[in-house]
Amino acid sequence: MADEASETFRSRRSCLATPGSNPRFLAKAKGLDADQVFLDLEDSVAPIAKVDARKNIVAALNEGGWGSKIRVVRVNDWTTEWTYADVIEVVSGAGANLDCIMLPKVQTAEQVVALDLLLTQLEKVHGLEPGRIGIEAQIENALGLTNVNAIAQASPRVETIIFGPADFMASINMKSLVVGEQPPGYDVGDAYHYILMQILMAARAHGKQAIDGPYLQIKDVDGFRRVAGRSAALGFDGKWVLHPDQIAAANEVYSPRQDDYDHAENILDAYDHFTSAAGGARGAVMLGDEMIDEASRKMALVISAKGRAAGLTRTDVWQPPTD
Ligand code: GLV
Ligand code: MG
Repeated sequence: MADEASETFRSRRSCLATPGSNPRFLAKAKGLDADQVFLDLEDSVAPIAKVDARKNIVAALNEGGWGSKIRVVRVNDWTTEWTYADVIEVVSGAGANLDCIMLPKVQTAEQVVALDLLLTQLEKVHGLEPGRIGIEAQIENALGLTNVNAIAQASPRVETIIFGPADFMASINMKSLVVGEQPPGYDVGDAYHYILMQILMAARAHGKQAIDGPYLQIKDVDGFRRVAGRSAALGFDGKWVLHPDQIAAANEVYSPRQDDYDHAENILDAYDHFTSAAGGARGAVMLGDEMIDEASRKMALVISAKGRAAGLTRTDVWQPPTD
């Protein structure tokens, strides 16, 4: 079951991709303002560089300096020969300094269970807190999408469901090479809407975060904002960023606007007051020109949790009537 939105919500507005084969990028990532960083062993690392990349990542995690960022490592998918050794080397070497493993190209719930079991053994061997290391599951092909509901509930470790648009477009033979933009010839809506909604529904049904994937035209920050704005509007929690210029845009697009945040906090205060004995024990009341009820409180909880996690503070505080 999905939890109340006010429960601890960790911001993942911007999820910075950093190739594990490049120690300079790994060092630079520490100083950037992304909510999450993921150190990659998968598609941004050449096959012959993967073994060294594992070592770079362990060293970078253990050196520290990541501040409050969520620290994630993307391993290779289970159809390769690298996955088990990626997980063993990274968790054995830096398990205490790592928050999640990202599993790409997830196709079935069993693939998540396999990672969960391996993590559990490693936690036992290395005396790590059981179950603390989370799983981020990337949905990148048609089979993964058809199983996304089972994937989201395959393990309590699953924290996020991520859309991987580049691999996904290839997997379904979409007629475009420009990731995130509409395929030429499709002029009747958003070609990604169905996929995004499937992922969002599975995530929300099981209390997970939904994360949008990369936008590869890194110089086009307006394009990034436009594409990010769509998934943010649906309810996604954040998006991958590939370049420092995309970070500020993501942090803004996936945060509530200040007036929405103020409004949400005011709804919560007003609803608390009016449903109490002192406020008349009412369930549906007017707040200004708007009628609010229990459903309004639930919507407000979402905006309030995202705003608080984003560090917003109130600029307009509702006061109960004095008469
Ligand atoms: C990310 O991994 C993607 O395939 O878009
Ligand atoms: Mg991919």
